Amino acid sequence: MIYLDNGATSFPKPEPVRRAMASAMVSCGNPGRGGYPAAMEAVQRVYGCRETAAELFDCRPEQVVLTSSCTHGLNMAIRTLINPGDRVVISGFEHNAVTRPLHGLGAQVTVAGRRLFDPEDTLQQWEKALRQGVDAAVFTHVSNVFGYILPVAEMAALCREHGVPFIVDAAQSAGSMPVSLGEWGADFIAMPGHKGLLGPMGTGLLLCGRLPKPFMSGGTGSESQNQDMPDFLPDRGEPGTPNVAGIAGLAAGIGTVRRLGLSRIALREHREAARCAEDLKKLGFTVFSGPNQGGTVSFLPYMDCEEAARILAEHGIAVRAGLHCAPLAHESAGTLETGTVRVSFGPDANSDQTRAFLQAARQLL
Ligand code: ALA
Repeated sequence: MIYLDNGATSFPKPEPVRRAMASAMVSCGNPGRGGYPAAMEAVQRVYGCRETAAELFDCRPEQVVLTSSCTHGLNMAIRTLINPGDRVVISGFEHNAVTRPLHGLGAQVTVAGRRLFDPEDTLQQWEKALRQGVDAAVFTHVSNVFGYILPVAEMAALCREHGVPFIVDAAQSAGSMPVSLGEWGADFIAMPGHKGLLGPMGTGLLLCGRLPKPFMSGGTGSESQNQDMPDFLPDRGEPGTPNVAGIAGLAAGIGTVRRLGLSRIALREHREAARCAEDLKKLGFTVFSGPNQGGTVSFLPYMDCEEAARILAEHGIAVRAGLHCAPLAHESAGTLETGTVRVSFGPDANSDQTRAFLQAARQLL
């Protein structure tokens, strides 16, 4: 199988990730709940994950809250910053992990910047919305559907200038592009562990520029006599026994990313996506591509998108078709009715994959 669905998850997981998880299963007790060697080994593994993440994302280890997914982190961040009825600005490319919690809270949402691959327009619309007055902002770094890389550093600077607290969704960028809590001055940055960071599913990180409102309450192994959640990081955001094997795997995944190097990963992914887009255009498909595009390309086949993905699967190609849990992004691009077929490259991106994919794509003509 040629795996081109890295937007959904990285696959297969690197060997060090599998090894770290297997060894955690036989060497780790419950972290923070005992002083015996197995419990202490778990403490070290969990801290090791925080430490390596903090180095990659320019923050302190205690600012790294370990979550079960990017969605978990986004919900915690959104519930911290946003109250029912608040005015919130979001980009035109948000995932349901952002729009559904906002809808659930009854937030008044303004969508700013709906043009693909046009950072100038994104920034103009963003500033306009901020000037009109909002209580908070949430924006994605990279569109999961189209690979559009939003001008996040500038969007973050505008938020700071207007005194608007903000959350960045780094679901599609963490592990392949620089993400910095320190530099962006974000209140929160949420990311999954299982995509670009190469860890297992069921893991994620919420980088905290401020204390989160606890998403759940429970035991933390600290301040047990206190019936409120501890008011310090990371404990405030981490009730219950953590997913130690998953966290050990995530630490190994982040280690793999650091060894490979972000810029090398980005170069490979972006180069293959650009090549793929050009060749799909030559075949006559409608392709969504432009400057400021990452390792993801969406296109319209001459048939139903799900059917196209099924045919590609028959030819050994794994891609995702449909709305990709991001109806807002499709609405922005005018593909809400049809969806798209999405090709998303990973750190192993290479020209053989692209060639094999294009060969299979000819079957859709
Ligand atoms: N949000 C993930 C995707 O884009 C699952 O496929």
